[in-house]
Amino acid sequence: VSRHLVDTFDRQHTYLRMSLTERCNLRCTYCMPEEGVPLRPKDQLLTTDEILTLADLFVRQGVTKIRLTGGEPTVRPDLLQIVQGMGQLKAKGLQSLGITTNGLVLKRKLKDLSLAGLDALNISLDTLDPHMFEIMTRRKGFDRVMEALDRAIEIGIPRIKLNCVVMRGVNDDQVLDFVALTKTMPIRVRFIEYMPFDGNQWKRDKLVPYQELIQRIGSTFGQMEKCTDDPNDTTKLYKVPGHIGHVGFITSMTEHFCHTCNRLRITTDGNIKVCLFGNAEVSLRDLLREPHADQQALDDRLLPVIGAAVRKKKKQHAGMFELAASKNRPMVLIGG
Ligand code: GTP
Ligand code: 5AD
Ligand code: SF4
Repeated sequence: VSRHLVDTFDRQHTYLRMSLTERCNLRCTYCMPEEGVPLRPKDQLLTTDEILTLADLFVRQGVTKIRLTGGEPTVRPDLLQIVQGMGQLKAKGLQSLGITTNGLVLKRKLKDLSLAGLDALNISLDTLDPHMFEIMTRRKGFDRVMEALDRAIEIGIPRIKLNCVVMRGVNDDQVLDFVALTKTMPIRVRFIEYMPFDGNQWKRDKLVPYQELIQRIGSTFGQMEKCTDDPNDTTKLYKVPGHIGHVGFITSMTEHFCHTCNRLRITTDGNIKVCLFGNAEVSLRDLLREPHADQQALDDRLLPVIGAAVRKKKKQHAGMFELAASKNRPMVLIGG
């Protein structure tokens, strides 16, 4: 990986998360306020070409994994074009191209996305109860998400994960049902500790620490086997003996994984955001839009700015109460 993507703690940033839109077709309580968030004027948002130009640059610098996020990436009309463009980057070193989506309008897009090179799919689903789905997302659509999941398995998308943000007193009674899915489904169900973001009314007592979940799952399914984690993964991975799928935990709050962080983010308005938490962001958009003679000229202009942003990355994020009090974007404008 190029020196521009290495920070002062020697972390090599080979994973780029690109947010494609600020819009979403759900209104999840943990992600945004009921009224939504103010959207930026269109001319401040990256175009299809600008997104592909940045993806290409980062892949040439050593990024091997790109994940498309939102808002909700499937509401972007040019999603297929973007995935096709990025699919071409596999010839230049890109190894994995994923998307994180709520799955609501995914089903009929899956086949084309898969043919274009999409090879990793994370679906956000926090409950298996249609009524609770409506409470948590403030919208209807549970059946459509489940249909998308079934279709993805049928098509044979290689790495399918379900993301479940666990909130005490809201959906924590669903955990065992999610684990039961792994008996017959070849998927990873991941329980995510509830994190504070602007406008999401985070409270410590709503957070369910992963250790508690492990105990609860163990007392019903028997003790889970620990699996080996990929070196830069967000997830601690387990398996119920005999189940074909896996169960994982994303423990950002009780046991952060910042020391192995390999992630950088690009926001919809073209900022590089070096950490999920904290609002240190640097704009690349205006540099992209200034006229340039050729690719080399653009590289020469962007790389020092990217490198400087990366080198400012902090060792780890602050404690949860400090985060809850600090200024960041609402989650819907970051994309996870
Ligand atoms: P894979 O690419 O499949 O490994 O997924 P991922 O876990 O990197 O991404 P996903 O979009 O599925 O996000 C799942 C959860 O992990 C969300 O709650 C994210 O906010 C959280 N997450 C992703 N990246 C980071 C990170 O760099 N730091 C922290 N603290 N949490 C992260
Ligand atoms: N805490 C933890 N995870 C969250 N996500 C969204 N908001 C939060 C939060 N407050 C998850 C979504 C999605 C992923 C990108 O981030 O459920 O799966
Ligand atoms: Fe990386 Fe920041 Fe997430 Fe820590 S909180 S893992 S440093 S993005």
